[in-house]
Amino acid sequence: MKPNDLRGILNYIPRFRGEIFVIAVDGAIVSEENFANVLLDIAVLRSLNIRVVLAHGAAYQIAEIAAKRNLDVSDLDGNGVTTDDTLELAIDVGNRLSHEILEGFATHDIRAAVTNAIKALPCGIIGGVNQLNLGKVERVDEKLLAALLERGVIPVVPPLGFDGSGRTFRVNSDSIAVSIAEALDAVKLIFVTSQDGILIGDQLIREMPASQLDAKLKEAAAGKELNCLSKAKHAVRACHGGIPRVHVINGRTNEGLLTEVFSNEGIGTLVYANDYQQIRPVKKKDIRLLVQLTRDSVLAEELTSRTRQEIARHLDDYFIFEIDRHPIGCVALHVFPEQKKAELAFLCVSRSHENQGIGLRLIKFVEDRARQQGVEQLYLLSTQAYTYFQAKAGFVEGGIDDLPAARRDVHVQSGRNSKILVKSLDLRSARAVREV
Ligand SMILES: CC(C)(COP(=O)(O)OP(=O)(O)OC[C@H]1O[C@@H](n2cnc3c(N)ncnc32)[C@H](O)[C@@H]1OP(=O)(O)O)[C@@H](O)C(=O)NCCC(=O)NCCS
Repeated sequence: MKPNDLRGILNYIPRFRGEIFVIAVDGAIVSEENFANVLLDIAVLRSLNIRVVLAHGAAYQIAEIAAKRNLDVSDLDGNGVTTDDTLELAIDVGNRLSHEILEGFATHDIRAAVTNAIKALPCGIIGGVNQLNLGKVERVDEKLLAALLERGVIPVVPPLGFDGSGRTFRVNSDSIAVSIAEALDAVKLIFVTSQDGILIGDQLIREMPASQLDAKLKEAAAGKELNCLSKAKHAVRACHGGIPRVHVINGRTNEGLLTEVFSNEGIGTLVYANDYQQIRPVKKKDIRLLVQLTRDSVLAEELTSRTRQEIARHLDDYFIFEIDRHPIGCVALHVFPEQKKAELAFLCVSRSHENQGIGLRLIKFVEDRARQQGVEQLYLLSTQAYTYFQAKAGFVEGGIDDLPAARRDVHVQSGRNSKILVKSLDLRSARAVREV
C-alpha cells in the first residue's frame, strides 16, 4: 500500500469505527511466513478502532502430523467422522496454533485471549454413520466475546466446541466463523485462505451477490467447477444470515487484508448481500469524488469537463453507482420537458469495474427515469464510446436537429465534433425506478 492510499482508507474509517470484523484464518496460513504480516494488518484494523475476532482452522497441521505419525485420519477439514485420534490431534494442534497466534499478537503489543466461546452439540449419526467427536455450533457465547472486545482484547477461537459436560468436539472453523459473525452482528467476515479467492474453473470471482453464488452452488456441476467450496457455501450462509459482506482472500499476499478492506478493487472474492450495490442521487458532499472518478475520462476527452460548480448547479441531474458505499460509476440526465427530450451525459464507470454491466445498468436507470418524466427521446453526444451505445444500448445515429434548440449552439461551439446518438423511449414500459 502506498502512502497516498491512506486518503482512500480515510473514506472508510468513519463507517467501520467500532464495528466488528470476524477474520477466519485457515491453519495452512498460520504456518506461513506471511502470517506475521496478516497479524500486522489486524493490528492496523485495531488501531482504527475496528473490533476483531479471530477464528482459525487446523486442518493443514492435522494432515501433516497424521502423515508423520502414520495415522489414518479420514476427516481433515472438520466435516467428517472425527475419531478419538483425530480429536486428540485437533486439540493438540488447535491449542498450539492458538498459542502461536497469541505470540504473534504479543509482538505487536496486542492483547488477545483464547476462548471457549463455542457451545457445541454432537453431529450425531448422518447417513447411518456415527460422526463420533464431530460437533456443530449450538450457540456462541456472545457475552464472553463482547466483554473481551469491550476491553480491547481480540478473542481467538480455535476449531473446537464444548458441551455442558465439558466434552470437546471438533467443529469446522468456517461454520464457527459464520456463527460468531451472526451472533455479534459483524459487518464483515473475512476468510483468509491459501487460495486467491473463490474460482470458477480458473476464473477468479471478484465479486458476486450471495443469491447468484447460491444458484451456482446449486448447479449440479458446482462441486467440480468451484474451488473453495466450503468458503463459498459459508459465505452464502453468512450473507443470508445478515452479514453484509464476506471476503475470501489469499493469506500469502502481503498487505492483502488491508488492500481487500480498504480498496475498491480488493484482491480476492467479495460475496455480498444484495443491498450492497445501488444507484442513488448525488449529494453535495459527493461532488469531489465524482470529479475524481471522471478525471481520467475527461483527460482522455471521452467526457466533457465539468467544474464542481457546474455539477452543483444541476445536482439533481446526477446519479452515482456505488458498491460498498464507494462510487464506481456515474451518469447525468438533463431533461428538456417542453421538447420531451433528455440528454444522457457524463456516463463513466471506474476502470477497475469495467465490463461488469454497470454502464448498461446506469443507462437503463436513466431511461426508466426519463420515461417517468414523460421524455420521448433520449439523446447523447459521444466522441469515443458511440459504438458502445449503438451495439449495447440500442441508440442510433441522429443529427443536430435531434438536439433541443438550447443545446445546438453549445454543441457546435464546443468543437468536439461528437457524434449525436438518439433513442426513442417506449412510454408504455415506464416502471418504478427502484434503485434510488
Ligand atoms: C463506456 C463505459 C461507460 C462502459 O461501461 P462498462 O460498465 O464497462 O460497460 P458494460 O459492462 O455495460 O458493457 C461492456 C461491453 O461494452 C463494451 N464496451 C465498453 N466500452 C466500450 C467503448 N468505449 N466502445 C465500444 N464498446 C465498449 C465492452 O467491450 C463490453 O462488450 P462485451 O459485452 O461484448 O464484452 C465505460 O467504459 C466508460 O466509463 N468509459 C469512459 C467514459 C465514456 O466514454 N463515457 C461515455 C460518454 S458519452
